[in-house]
Amino acid sequence: MANPAAPPSQTPLPPRRSKLVRCIALILLALIVLVGLVVLITWLVVKPKRIVYTVEAASVSGFNLTHDHLSADFDFMLRSVNPNRKVSIYYDSMEVMVSYYDNILAFAEVQPFYQPRQNVTQLEVKPVAKSAALMESASRDLRLEKSSGGVELDIRVKARIRLKMGAWKSRRRTLKVFCPHVLVHFSSAKKFQRARCDVDL
Ligand SMILES: *[C@@H]1O[C@H](CO)[C@@H](O)[C@H](O)[C@H]1NC(C)=O
Ligand SMILES: *[C@@H]1O[C@H](CO)[C@@H](O)[C@H](O)[C@H]1NC(C)=O
Repeated sequence: MANPAAPPSQTPLPPRRSKLVRCIALILLALIVLVGLVVLITWLVVKPKRIVYTVEAASVSGFNLTHDHLSADFDFMLRSVNPNRKVSIYYDSMEVMVSYYDNILAFAEVQPFYQPRQNVTQLEVKPVAKSAALMESASRDLRLEKSSGGVELDIRVKARIRLKMGAWKSRRRTLKVFCPHVLVHFSSAKKFQRARCDVDL
């Protein structure tokens, strides 16, 4: 026997309307999947390959280390490889920083440049340390390394770049390059060991 107090059960949609709703839902779902696939395929095609940075040469002159300051002229040859077949790169700005552990020694700026597709560009940078302040422990360690004939420096590059593919240009992004423990010899007779860098885009 029906209970008159029970709430009325929901009336089902008429069969034709429910069919229409299901049909629209299916079309929407198909569209979403399709858009997702298009985005995925475009990404896979465009996806930029890793830009590769190495340090090919390094030298130092005018090295003058007092108990807590350093002056020196550095000379680095950086090699930038853009392996992409479809993507070229605008370098709108680039800054190179040399440090010894937490002590920043020198900066250099690189003029804006454009790197074509599948291109290798050599960048010569000459950061100058002008009486850079050193922590006492760093100064001591640097002196010890110097007497062994070479010092290990960290090189960091920070660049603002835009990627270009066909007529499309990306917004500006920051490229960070970190070349740890680059061994710089004081004698030019010692052969420089190429150093690999980590690249973060
Ligand atoms: C090294 O630096 C100190 C302090 O900055 C300066 O007095 C001295 O003349 C410099 N020596 C050389 C050889 O440049
Ligand atoms: C890379 O691009 C630069 C700038 O356009 C050009 O001068 C250089 O010759 C190119 N290098 C190679 C290996 O194609």
